[in-house]
Amino acid sequence: MPNMLTLALSKGRIFEETLPLLKAAGIEPIDDPETSRKLILDTNQSDVRLIIVRASDVPSYVEYGGADMGIAGKDVLLEHPDAELYEPVDLNIACCKLMTAGRENDSDNRCRLKVATKFVESTRRFYAEQGQQVDIIKLYGSMELAPLVGLADRIVDVVDTGNTLRANGLVPMEHIADISSRLIVNKASMKTKHVRIQQFIDRIREAVRVQDNA
Ligand code: ATP
Ligand code: PRP
Repeated sequence: MPNMLTLALSKGRIFEETLPLLKAAGIEPIDDPETSRKLILDTNQSDVRLIIVRASDVPSYVEYGGADMGIAGKDVLLEHPDAELYEPVDLNIACCKLMTAGRENDSDNRCRLKVATKFVESTRRFYAEQGQQVDIIKLYGSMELAPLVGLADRIVDVVDTGNTLRANGLVPMEHIADISSRLIVNKASMKTKHVRIQQFIDRIREAVRVQDNA
């Protein structure tokens, strides 16, 4: 269908927090990604479908046209500073902070810190702005473990309640960025499907406004 709108998002937190916004915009998926193995989910609107991808893959799907639009955390978007994308709506969901963290009472007077993270680009930029030399170790998860086993002096990760850090004897240190999820749009789709996408953006914006005032 030429006028099909494809929205890429990840299951779990982002899917769950996006669902009420989509519903308010009149869009309801027919399958539940937590129970279905399908990666393309039809919705109650025959010209809107959802695709389920890894959170960190959403910008690539949208930039290269695998999806017209997507929903991605700002932490993920900051890792793609050169991506050719529009970012028209802050959905104010999946809110957290990107922070450095380490062991309590750990002095950072080493001339080169070892920093473990999956957020390599934000980490590089943050420490460069501080004028601090660092060696960055790229990890894909369980960052909290790295300082406990001597792999790194610091981690850079998202923090919400701080429970994960606390449970592992770590403390939050420096604030890097406030994070929330954003609606992102493919630049070519914005031209070729302008009316449909603008209508979608307007509806989602209104849903966010209502949600934020609730
Ligand atoms: P991947 O599967 O690609 O590794 P992920 O495990 O980080 O991704 P989620 O845990 O679903 O995926 O997180 C999706 C987004 O939600 C993150 O990019 C971030 O913006 C936000 N987020 C992550 N952890 C939290 C949290 N504890 N509280 C609130 N928001 C969070
Ligand atoms: C995320 C993130 C942190 C944790 C922070 O993990 O990777 O470990 O949340 O949240 P907190 O400050 O409230 O503890 P998540 O729970 O999404 O699991 P994941 O590691 O599978 O992404």
